[in-house]
Amino acid sequence: MFSNIKDQELIFRNLINGNWTNSKSGNFIEIYSPIDNRLVGKVPAMTTEEVDYTFESARKAQEEWKNTPINKRAEVLYKAADILEDKVEDLTNIMMLEIGKDKKSCESEILRTADFIRFTADASKSLSGESIPGDSFPGFKRNKISVVTREPLGVVLAISPFNYPINLAASKIAPAIVAGNTVVLKPATQGSLCGLYLAKVFEEAGVPAGVLNTVTGKGSEIGDYIVTHRDVDFINFTGSTEIGTRISKITSMVPLLMELGGKDAAIVLEDADLDLTASNIVSGAYSYSGQRCTAVKRVLVVDKVADALVEKIKEKVEKLSIGNPLEIDDVNIVPLINSKAADFVVELIEEAKEKGAKLLVGGNREGNLVYPTLFDYVTTDMRLAWEEPFGPVLPIIRVKDKDEAIAIANESKYGLQSAVFTENINEAFYVADRLEVGTVQVNNKTERGPDHFPFLGVKASGIGTQGIKYSIEAMTRPKATIINLIDRK
Ligand code: NAP
Ligand code: G3P
Repeated sequence: MFSNIKDQELIFRNLINGNWTNSKSGNFIEIYSPIDNRLVGKVPAMTTEEVDYTFESARKAQEEWKNTPINKRAEVLYKAADILEDKVEDLTNIMMLEIGKDKKSCESEILRTADFIRFTADASKSLSGESIPGDSFPGFKRNKISVVTREPLGVVLAISPFNYPINLAASKIAPAIVAGNTVVLKPATQGSLCGLYLAKVFEEAGVPAGVLNTVTGKGSEIGDYIVTHRDVDFINFTGSTEIGTRISKITSMVPLLMELGGKDAAIVLEDADLDLTASNIVSGAYSYSGQRCTAVKRVLVVDKVADALVEKIKEKVEKLSIGNPLEIDDVNIVPLINSKAADFVVELIEEAKEKGAKLLVGGNREGNLVYPTLFDYVTTDMRLAWEEPFGPVLPIIRVKDKDEAIAIANESKYGLQSAVFTENINEAFYVADRLEVGTVQVNNKTERGPDHFPFLGVKASGIGTQGIKYSIEAMTRPKATIINLIDRK
């Protein structure tokens, strides 16, 4: 599995109870590259019986794992981080082919993930409880003390998306297992080769049998079955709002942590540094072809500086590198993940054109490659003002002042992040205070990292909070043991 994989078709199996297992059905899902449609590899399409066995194994392994000292669990993570770093070249080659991401971004995702895993191991050492005296509450005496410890939740089902197949799988696995949970990972089908490779890294690092398991199969076929499985104690999901909403509708009494879609706004006020603003907007909107939850997905700029800002953005968009990530190392615009995704982006582009938005750059497509597209004078009756394209198209909406920008930003069903560009700290806080989002970036593009910051979406963008410390907290619960001292006097 860790041999040189370039130009070689990969057949991966699932990690179940410590064994690399094929599906008895003999069925595989073929993974084709979004770059040139070549067959990259195959993963098993698991049956429901195999899913049952996987969850049973995770349930059984949890009994011992939760009693394994935290320092031992942390050791596995440190080893996994080191192995992952060693495998950066192999894994980059797989990731480039599987999801069409450019080489530089693949490498930085993998190295960032190794840092994430190490930081999680460090953070686990300060996992502690508290003791609470009873007599701080009216009417109680000193004889009652609550000893509060943190307990794992049990079996965590981790479901990851295609766009960060290593980072968004590891950011669920590492905090879950260090806290004493066991994990069943269901990676995005397009991204499952990376997900299974990551499982191999954890296995090589010494994760015991059953502590980390994987399930592959199309979400549309096995998704409902796994999320409603009796052995799931917690679901940690990253993906679209559509699927996240479905999961929250069909599950019952299972806690959920969800990172979903977004429509992050960059709000530009009249005193903004326009060069800095334009650079941030362009890299925020177009890197990896806009296939990032935290991509800048609309610009709300006050009329006074709109012409100057638009000119600067346009100049930069025209200079973006476009093409094949196998040929250009840090290419910005790559083919989208599949033709359905490209069709959707083109649909939004066409509607904006029909409704009178001014096309400044792009608008064209070749196969899955949608050229970087920039629209000015987008209005609120256009779908592009509200929908998440997950592609390289940026709408500019002109507004009269900051209050109109805030109103349009908040009218979105999403609430992941927003950015405000201004040199006036009071204005920055005025806007930040009023935005209904998880995070506001002042004078920076919207982005998740660094990964120990809290990361969350409100409204249709998510449930709960990620970020190393926050993820560990989310996947543990307090357990209170109350000592009642007997007064024998
Ligand atoms: P997606 O289509 O929602 O898929 C996400 C995961 O859900 C995949 O593993 C998918 O498996 C699985 N799935 C599909 N149907 C399911 C079902 N009925 N039950 C359970 N699981 C099911 O999302 P995506 O296209 O991979 O990723 C893009 C979306 O993710 C965007 O909306 C983006 O904004 C969002 N995202 C959000 C964040 C964040 O942190 N807020 C980060 C990254 C991405 P299959 O691949 O087998 O269908
Ligand atoms: O975790 C990866 C994804 O959520 C986006 O990360 O930091 O590039 O916005 P970032």
